[in-house]
Order: sequence, then structure tokens, then C-alpha cells
Amino acid sequence: MKYDVLMQPVIEFLGCETPKVWIDEALNNLDILMQDHANCEKKAASTAMNLMFRYSFFADLQVKLAQLVREEMLHYEQVLELMKKRGQTWQALSAGRYATGLRKEVRTYEPEALIDILIIGAFVEARSCERFYALAPHVDEELGRYYGYLLKSESRHYEDYLSLALEVANTSKLKNAKETIQQRIEHIRGVEKELILSSDDTFRFHSGIPIKAS
Ligand SMILES: [Fe+2]
Ligand SMILES: [Fe+2]
Repeated sequence: MKYDVLMQPVIEFLGCETPKVWIDEALNNLDILMQDHANCEKKAASTAMNLMFRYSFFADLQVKLAQLVREEMLHYEQVLELMKKRGQTWQALSAGRYATGLRKEVRTYEPEALIDILIIGAFVEARSCERFYALAPHVDEELGRYYGYLLKSESRHYEDYLSLALEVANTSKLKNAKETIQQRIEHIRGVEKELILSSDDTFRFHSGIPIKAS
């Protein structure tokens, strides 16, 4: 497929690929998928904006995240537009377990807390990218084309979050910055993989194995 080269580092970064049973569930619940995807785009912008306020002393973080906020808000508008075009009405949808499950891992002291949030950001972006890639060949042409467009931005966001984590570790003079970051990546990778591969009773964009398939 056209995006194979772009996807290779993303797939290597993640601990597992999206299981086929999740794709089947998504195709049977496209309305929930699209609504939750819209929510995720808005949440991605909000998380990045919060970081910009909380860590206003990191100049590079400001620049990269300002761009990211703009892009996520654009994606949000685009998904809403697609929903409208398809006659899908807005519905209130609770969040799944994924973000909370990852946020639990954030340490309570700095700069480790910020580093963890950035690494988690990289995983969320990488997983979103991988899910668009996995879904694209199975959905209708319009949605498939749109997911192809989105996965390019999300793979860039994954790289941005990862390089920011390294940069924060280096500028805060964390001991053995590279090794420490690597260990943290491995830890979060395991937690993320478990959230994707364990059974989950609530279908969402980042949910695990649908309970009836497990
Ligand atoms: Fe996005
Ligand atoms: Fe993103």
C-alpha cells in the first residue's frame, strides 16, 4: 500500500498492530467510530493547549504544540463536516478507558511528569495513525481517502511528541537522558499494548478487543 514506508517506524514503535476483530467491530459501528474520532481530535487539541499553558517556559514546545493544536482543530472541523454530509447527528458519547489508562502512568514530579505526558502523546498519535492505516482499505472511498490524509499528520505528531520528550530530558539535564527515555518508552509501550489487546466492553476509536470477540 501507498503508505507502507511512512508507517514502518510507527508500527515498530507500537507494541502491536490493531487486531482484525477491532476493525470488524469498527465497520459495524461507523457512527460511534466517527463521533468518538471527532471527540479525540478535540481532546488532542485541548491536551496540547493545556501543555502550552502549563509549560510556558519551553520555547520549542510552544512552537510545535501551537501547530499541533491548529491541525487537530482542523481535523475536528473536518470530521464534523463529514458527519453532517452523511446525515449523522451529533451524539454525546462517554470517553473510553484508553486515555485514562495511559494517564495513570504519569509520574507526579518534574521533569518526569512532562516527559511521561509527551511519551504518552507519542503513543496516542502513533496508535491513531496506525488505526487510520488499518481502517482505510475497508471503509468507503471518501473516508478511506480522508484517513490516508490524516495518517500523515498523525505520524508527524507522533514524531514531534517523541522529539519533545527527548529535548525536555536533555535540557533538564536528566541523568542518562537517552536510556531513561528508552526505559519509559518501553514501559508505556507495554501498558498501551495491554489496552489494545485486552477485552474492552466499550467500543471506541482507541478501544481494546470487543468483549464479544474475546
Ligand atoms: Fe488529528
Ligand atoms: Fe494528532
